[in-house]
Amino acid sequence: MKTIMISQESAAGSSPSQNFPLDQWYVAGFSSELQYKPIGRTFLNQKVVLYRAGDGKAAALEDRCCHKSLPLSCGTVEHGGIRCGYHGLLYGADGVCVEIPGQARIPPIAKVRAYHVAEKNHLIWIWMPKVAGGLPNMEVPTYAHHDNPMYQWGSGMYHYDAPWQLIHDNLLDLSHLGYVHLKTIGGDARLHMNTPTKVTADERRVKVVRYMPGSTPPPTYKAAWPFGDTCDRWQEIEFEPSHLSIWTGAIEPGRASMDDPGRGGLHLRGFHGITPETETSCHYFWSMASNRHPDMPETIGKVLQQIEFTFDEDRGVIEDQYKNMLEFGERATWMDIHCDAGANRARRILKKLVEQNSEAVAA
Ligand code: FES
Ligand SMILES: [Fe+2]
Repeated sequence: MKTIMISQESAAGSSPSQNFPLDQWYVAGFSSELQYKPIGRTFLNQKVVLYRAGDGKAAALEDRCCHKSLPLSCGTVEHGGIRCGYHGLLYGADGVCVEIPGQARIPPIAKVRAYHVAEKNHLIWIWMPKVAGGLPNMEVPTYAHHDNPMYQWGSGMYHYDAPWQLIHDNLLDLSHLGYVHLKTIGGDARLHMNTPTKVTADERRVKVVRYMPGSTPPPTYKAAWPFGDTCDRWQEIEFEPSHLSIWTGAIEPGRASMDDPGRGGLHLRGFHGITPETETSCHYFWSMASNRHPDMPETIGKVLQQIEFTFDEDRGVIEDQYKNMLEFGERATWMDIHCDAGANRARRILKKLVEQNSEAVAA
């Protein structure tokens, strides 16, 4: 793990990010994205430039030059830091300007906000504090499957024109598979809807588990593993405020106890980092790791191709859902059914965390 810790500002005050849980790590991108060019991205209404500093460490600054406000993401990365693409001010990873070309004196106000960044398991995480400059008060999340030699994995990202919680709703309720994803990971819709779902939760986590013995293997499973007519499927979803881990898979009927983590068969381990951009848009970073059947070496290639198609289907549904919510406005009320339990728990957790933002400012 590489991490930089920077404390630059300490003044409390309201944040443009008040509508989201703060004092949390959020996914800012994949390690592979950060090469030589800076990346401009908005997280929780804050414009940020991500780059890899000369020492190889990931860094993140406010995406605005303190001279005349050009985004720093329009600049270039060099050994000493990031250089603005307008008049060449150079900034270190702590946000402090270290060079003004043609001028010896660097005023103390020549600085921009710096963010704490950590790189772990091929993911770049950014700490979004309640108070500008606040230090991280929890460990960087771990996602060890990206570094597990048992798995091969691939990844992708989406920009969504929809609020982030609509993606949580989707991922915490996989009963939609039988209706949305029939061409890939779907299967019998009635079986999905009728399978008992176990939901457990604490103050920041939700776990949703379903076991479906005697399922018809859906197309992606058949493409990746030599299943016969039936298989025993599992779906284990773990939600945390900024990301979800979803372990789905299947094994030949009766070969293993469904709740045994050491069960064999086809494993599909999905990572889903969902980071709000604004109240009505978000970034969705996903990866899928899978094991390989000895007789089917192309497993991961086929899985990734079909998973990408699957996630495109989800995006279509969620963006259409949100457009319709906007068109119907106040009349777009919702009602709960049995499969909403996990998503509702997650929404309650996020609501409580957001309420804690204003408590922190008022204190
Ligand atoms: S706007 Fe950045 S150096 Fe002038
Ligand atoms: Fe889906």
